[in-house]
Amino acid sequence: MRKIILVTGANSGLGKAMTLALAGAGHRVFATMRNTDQNPFSTTTANIQVLKMDVCDDAQIALVVRELCDKYHVEGLDVLINNAGTAMPGPLERASRDMMFDQFNLNVFSVISVSRHFLPLLKNRRGKIFNIGSMSSRMSIPFAGLYGASKAALKQISWALRLELRVWGVEVCHLELGNFPSAIWQKAAFHAEEWANDPYRQFLEKISHLMQSRSRTFNSSELLTRKVLHLMERERNPFNTVVGRDAQMRRLLTSLFPVRFLERQLVRKIFVSKS
Ligand SMILES: NC(=O)c1ccc[n+]([C@@H]2O[C@H](COP(=O)([O-])OP(=O)(O)OC[C@H]3O[C@@H](n4cnc5c(N)ncnc54)[C@H](OP(=O)(O)O)[C@@H]3O)[C@@H](O)[C@H]2O)c1
Repeated sequence: MRKIILVTGANSGLGKAMTLALAGAGHRVFATMRNTDQNPFSTTTANIQVLKMDVCDDAQIALVVRELCDKYHVEGLDVLINNAGTAMPGPLERASRDMMFDQFNLNVFSVISVSRHFLPLLKNRRGKIFNIGSMSSRMSIPFAGLYGASKAALKQISWALRLELRVWGVEVCHLELGNFPSAIWQKAAFHAEEWANDPYRQFLEKISHLMQSRSRTFNSSELLTRKVLHLMERERNPFNTVVGRDAQMRRLLTSLFPVRFLERQLVRKIFVSKS
């Protein structure tokens, strides 16, 4: 059956890939983005509607809800994909309160707010909410502590939301992703000049290279889009779905090996090894 879907942060990376795959499968997709000048979709794709929505701006979110109802005559939403997110790396010793707030505002608070605004439409269709999480919620990576913490918080929020919304027939699923190709780590790239005299510089350089090379080499975005299409069609899904070979491996490693062992490997890679 043709579904009505809304994706946040649809202009790039995984949001764009999911929008194209869902529209390609015949669904009607509202692709939201904070800057519509960055719209990557061709105007000839009839079942993709691009709308401006900054997920940190409640007035804009409310406007999109109104637009859906008044302009597009949408009476219900089948799937909401809370995809917009970013990584704000850096040593916690240097993290300002503003930076901490920004990371949580986008990756956690906005998910609650967007979901809250679209709930009346989701309830009408007994819809689903897919929250895009990360395996960083499972084990922290040095210098990506705020990101990992925000994704761990997202997982807990998703779980509570799932339990609270079950009574209304709305299902909340958390997707725990491994590394996928996108610009997320390039956008968060480390700028050597900003850290010129900082003793953390050498480690930041190393972790920045490590993260960027990982996102180039791991899973294909089709793996995620196939999974989303699959979950969407099922009546009931588990709360957490691990997506990606590396994420499956990390899950296995964290269950097999003591944390002390995994810590040692990670620390060696970043603080000791030459590459
Ligand atoms: N790629 C991975 O390896 C990976 C792994 C685990 C989890 N994830 C998660 O997957 C999701 C998508 O990330 P990605 O990898 O596809 O990176 P991406 O290409 O950087 O996509 C992030 C998207 O979020 C949007 N965004 C940022 N702030 C926003 C705001 N205030 N309002 C609306 N949209 C906003 C970005 O828009 P702009 O272009 O305007 O900044 C962009 O479209 C994120 O939640 C990320 O944490 C990714």
